[in-house]
Amino acid sequence: MRIGTPLSPSATKVMLLGSGELGKEVIIELQRFGVEVIAVDRYDNAPGHQVAHRAYTINMADGTALRQLIEEVKPDLIVPEIEAIATDMLAEIEAEGLAEVIPTARATQLTMNREGIRRLAAEELGLATSAYAFADSLDELQAAIENGVGYPCIIKPVMSSSGKGQSRINSAGDVSKAWDYAMSGGRINSGRIIVEAVVEFDYEITLLTVRSLNDQANIITSYCQPIGHLQDKGDYVESWQPQAMSEAVLKKAQQMAEKVTTSLGGRGIFGVELFIKGDEVYFSEVSPRPHDTGLVTLMTQWQSEFALHARAILGLPVDTGLRDTGASAVIYGGMDEQGIAYENVDLALSEAQTEIRLFGKPESFIRRRMGVALAVSETTEAARVKAKKAAASVNTVAVK
Ligand SMILES: Nc1ncnc2c1ncn2[C@@H]1O[C@H](COP(=O)(O)OP(=O)(O)OP(=O)(O)O)[C@@H](O)[C@H]1O
Ligand SMILES: [Mg+2]
Repeated sequence: MRIGTPLSPSATKVMLLGSGELGKEVIIELQRFGVEVIAVDRYDNAPGHQVAHRAYTINMADGTALRQLIEEVKPDLIVPEIEAIATDMLAEIEAEGLAEVIPTARATQLTMNREGIRRLAAEELGLATSAYAFADSLDELQAAIENGVGYPCIIKPVMSSSGKGQSRINSAGDVSKAWDYAMSGGRINSGRIIVEAVVEFDYEITLLTVRSLNDQANIITSYCQPIGHLQDKGDYVESWQPQAMSEAVLKKAQQMAEKVTTSLGGRGIFGVELFIKGDEVYFSEVSPRPHDTGLVTLMTQWQSEFALHARAILGLPVDTGLRDTGASAVIYGGMDEQGIAYENVDLALSEAQTEIRLFGKPESFIRRRMGVALAVSETTEAARVKAKKAAASVNTVAVK
């Protein structure tokens, strides 16, 4: 494995497609290895733009624009950070050998659409999932629920993330409202939804799974300690590590993660989302990239999920070991404003073993994630209390 000198002909060039808070941390890790980083996002001054060698603003869903930029920059590796990308163009670029797509172009194609990854996991790999069906119209949706999925169920646009367009319903009277909401909330209105039976889980986890090279240059799979998390309206608000679980259930979870990540292939970190109910493990979905709930690893692991991703994609060895028990809590914008300020950061950091990350996003929305508080402690419960307190101490203010 060799790494060149950035901004010289020998540079090892990595292009991030999507440069939000997760991309920003990946970029910082790549910078530490002297990699030349090119950050791309749909808007100017995105978090990752601010720490990369070069920044570009394009519509990444536009295949022509994407290809043009890749031909100009000539990256060695292309690292998608978001789902809304012209993934068919990535497949062409990979097939032509223009650049390596992380983890693979196929993985980005399958996971950008809930149908692709769900059919792969449930129908090809035989993983347990919630009961589900797909529908292209209100009539089809009603029929799917009557004929098997049942109530309560969750309706989601096939192409959406962060809970957008998603609703949970309990009875037939709510179906048409959920359909309309899904049609308005998808990233690309494909007119198609997935309806899933609600799994009444005891808890849910993200199992960060890394595919990296060993000293024989063969791919090996390793796992971080499970991350527990709390979701509100399809968006994570708190996470902690490790989530306590029995050895047997953890083994089962790892086996499922191994199956799905092996099928997706390539190198890098994956966030495998699983529901746990008693001894049963249900596969929900997987991100072929760092996961938002994994922000907690900035403080709990020797190598955060971002460091693990950087190492794995560069072909370097990884260590998924846990260093401390800890938690994260999200800091929201709380207002729709440009260029807001954060007060009381000093107060938030007054407790030992507490950290605050502010992402530097140029525009705040009420429910936009603008930062995160991190804390370690003796137990996950104590760490959660600390992280929540730190997050709550930070005050966002409009600057006129
Ligand atoms: N079938 C289900 N049964 C029970 N809970 C569910 C089910 N599907 C989704 N949820 C809940 O909703 C959350 C968000 O669902 P999902 O991960 O599918 O949406 P998403 O839009 O992809 O969110 P994100 O992009 O943040 O991962 C899950 O983490 C879980 O808490
Ligand atoms: Mg999810």
